[in-house]
Amino acid sequence: MKGLHRLGRRRRAVVIGLSAAAAVAGAVTLLPNSAGAATLGTQAAPSGRYFGTAVAAGRLGDSTYSTILDREFNMITPENEMKWDATEPSRGSFNFGPADQIVSHAASHGQQLRGHTLVWHSQLPTWVSGITDAATLRSVMNNHITTAMTHFKGKIHSWDVVNEAFADGSTQHRSSVFQNVLGDGFIEEAFRTARAADPAAKLCYNDYNIENWTDAKTQGVYAMVRDFKSRGVPIDCVGFQSHFGTGGPPAGFGTTLSNFAALGVDVQITELDIATAPPTAYANTVKACLNVSRCTGITVWGIRDSDSWRSTDNPLLFDSGGNPKPAYDAVISTLGAGTGSSASPSAGPSTSSSSTDQPRTKTRRVRPTASGTTASPSPSASGSLPSTFQWSSSGVLIAPKPDASHNVAGIKDPSVVYYNGKYHVFASVADSSGYSMVYLSFTDWSQAGSATQYYLDQSPIGRGYRAAPQVFYFAPQKLWYLVYQTGDNASYSTNADISNPNGWSAPKGFYSSMPTIISQNIGNGYWVDMWVICDSANCYLFSSDDNGQLYRSQTTLSQFPNGMTNTVIAAQDANRNNLFEAANVYKVQGKNQYLLIVEAIGSDGRRYFRSWTSNSIDGSWTALAASESSPFAGAANVTFPAGAWTRDISHGEMIRAGYDQTLTISPCGMQYLYQGRDPNSSTDYNSLPWRLGLLTQSNSAC
Ligand code: XIL
Repeated sequence: MKGLHRLGRRRRAVVIGLSAAAAVAGAVTLLPNSAGAATLGTQAAPSGRYFGTAVAAGRLGDSTYSTILDREFNMITPENEMKWDATEPSRGSFNFGPADQIVSHAASHGQQLRGHTLVWHSQLPTWVSGITDAATLRSVMNNHITTAMTHFKGKIHSWDVVNEAFADGSTQHRSSVFQNVLGDGFIEEAFRTARAADPAAKLCYNDYNIENWTDAKTQGVYAMVRDFKSRGVPIDCVGFQSHFGTGGPPAGFGTTLSNFAALGVDVQITELDIATAPPTAYANTVKACLNVSRCTGITVWGIRDSDSWRSTDNPLLFDSGGNPKPAYDAVISTLGAGTGSSASPSAGPSTSSSSTDQPRTKTRRVRPTASGTTASPSPSASGSLPSTFQWSSSGVLIAPKPDASHNVAGIKDPSVVYYNGKYHVFASVADSSGYSMVYLSFTDWSQAGSATQYYLDQSPIGRGYRAAPQVFYFAPQKLWYLVYQTGDNASYSTNADISNPNGWSAPKGFYSSMPTIISQNIGNGYWVDMWVICDSANCYLFSSDDNGQLYRSQTTLSQFPNGMTNTVIAAQDANRNNLFEAANVYKVQGKNQYLLIVEAIGSDGRRYFRSWTSNSIDGSWTALAASESSPFAGAANVTFPAGAWTRDISHGEMIRAGYDQTLTISPCGMQYLYQGRDPNSSTDYNSLPWRLGLLTQSNSAC
C-alpha cells in the first residue's frame, strides 16, 4: 500500500486496460470446500495434487454435468477438442472454437488444463496420414505443434505432446504416418518443437498399457524417457492413461510410477476409468499415485458413466444420474487418509531434476475451529518454518468490480480470515481519486472471482481515504476489528458479525497524532500499512513509512484498542527499498516464534518479500529468507503453473490457522494471498491493474 499522496505522480499512458492476466487465470481449487463435504479436488490438494476429468465441450451446457465438474475437479483435459482432427481439419486451417470453450470455462472456474494431444496416429485427418514426403510431414507436424501451443500459450499446465507412439506387446514404436515417414526421431523432434513453442508448459509423453512394470511396452517407453533425460531432450512428465479392466491397476503399477519418477520426470494418471468401477480398484490406483511424490495428479476420463467412451462398462465415479458411486467414496477416503507422500514441487521445464524419489510426509491442512485458535493436529505436532521457501501461484483469483460510483482499476492489500465455513476478504480498491475498501466472502477459492464485492464506504466506515485493511477477531471483547490507514492515523472499526459488512462502526484513530519518532524519520515517505498482533499480555501496532523504518507501538491486552504508545523503530534499513512497506507479523503455531515479513523493492523495481523471525513480538529480528535471490516470496521462488501473470509479489496476507488477535499461522503448507499486476501495465500508481492471487508453499516439509 502506498499513501494517497501518490495521486500527484505523473501519468503515463495506460498500456494495458483490463489485464491480460485475467484471461490466463487458472487457479486450482486449493482448499476444502468448507461449506460442505470434501470434494475430489479439495481432498487431493493438501498433498499438492490435482484431481481432474476429461471434459466434452458439448456437455458444458448440461447443468448436472457442469455442477459436478465445478464442484469436484480442478484440472480439465478436453476429451476430443484439442485433437488434430478438431483443430486442423485441413492443412493450415485451424479451428480452436470448441477447445476455447473449455479453456474459458476452466479459467472462470479456477481449473487448470492438460492439453491433449498434439501428435497422435488416431483422430488424425486423412490429409496428414496421406503424406508420404518427409520434408512435408516434418513441416506439417511442427507447424501444428507450434500453432496450437502458441494459441493456448499461458493457459495449459501440461501438454500430451506425443500420444500412444509405442506398439502393444513390444518395446518398439507403433506403425504410424509419423513413424513410417519420419522414423524414430519424430518423438524427439515433436518435444523439441513443443519446448520452443511454449517454454512454460510441461511436456508429457502419454500412453496406455504401460502401467505394468514388466510389460515390454512399459520398458520401451521407460528406455525412451531415460534416453531423453540423458541427452537433454525436453520431457517433463509421463502420463499413464490407466484404462483398466475390473481388476484395476496391475500389482506393479506403484513400481512403474516410482521408476519413471526416478528418471526425473513427473508422472500422472491421465485417463483413469475402471470397468464396473470397483471401489478397491479405484482406491488402489489412488494409493499408487499418493505413494510417489512425483505423481502430481489423477484425471478420470469423464464424469458420469453416461459420459464415458466405454459407457457400457460403467467405469466412472458418478452414475448416469450424476450420483457419486461407491468408487467415489473410496477415492475420497483414500485421498484423505493421510498416507503417502506430498507431491513434489514441480520442477520447471528447464530445471534439472533429482534422480531420486524420496517419499515425504503428507501435508495436512489445519482448519480453524470456532474458538478462534486452531483445530487438530495439536500445535506441538506441527512442523517448523523452513529456511528457504518455494511457492506455486494461482492465476488471478480476484479482480476489481467497478460499479457506477466506484471506477476502480485495482484491488489490493488483502486481509483474509477463514471463519464459519467461509473466507472473508477485505481489500483496498483504488482509482485515480483515491482509496476505499471492499468486503467479499466465499466458501472456496474457485468462487472468489464471482463473489460480490461490497463497498465499505456504504457502511458507517464511510467515504474518504481508508485503505490497507487488516481483520481479526479480538477474543477478549468478542468483537471483530478492522484496522486500516486513514492518512494521518491508524484507524479501526469494530463489528460483532464479520459477515455483515454494514455492521462496522465509524473509524476511530489509534493515535492522537503521528508519533514523534515517525515524524522525525518519515522524510518524504508515507505512513502506511498498520498491523496489529497481540500476545497474552500486550497488543502491538506495526506500521511502515516507505522510507526504511518499521515502527512498533504497544498497549496492554486489557486496554486495547486504547493506549497505543511507546512507539519505537522495530527494524530499519538505510536503503528504503529493502524495508519498504506491507509488514506482517505472525505467531508460528506450536513454537515460541514469530515471523515478520516486509515487502521490498527489487533490483528490477519489482516487489518481493523478505522474512525474519524472533522469539517475541518486541524482540530483535533474525533474517530467515531475506534476500532478493532467496526471498520469502518473490519472482525468484514463485512458479506460475497457470501462466506468469505478474512479476510483483506484493502486499497481502497469510491464510491463518485461526482468526483471533494472535494471528497464528501453521508453518506447514503455507498460503499467502497477494497482489500482483500485469508486468506490462504502466500508468499512475493508483490506476495500476492490481489483482489478487494465492501462493501455496510447494516445499512444505510437514
Ligand atoms: C477417446 C474419447 O474419449 C472418445 O470420445 C473418442 O471418440 C476417442 O478418443 N486414449 C486417449 C484418448 O488418449 O484421447 C481417448 O479418448 C481414449 C484413449
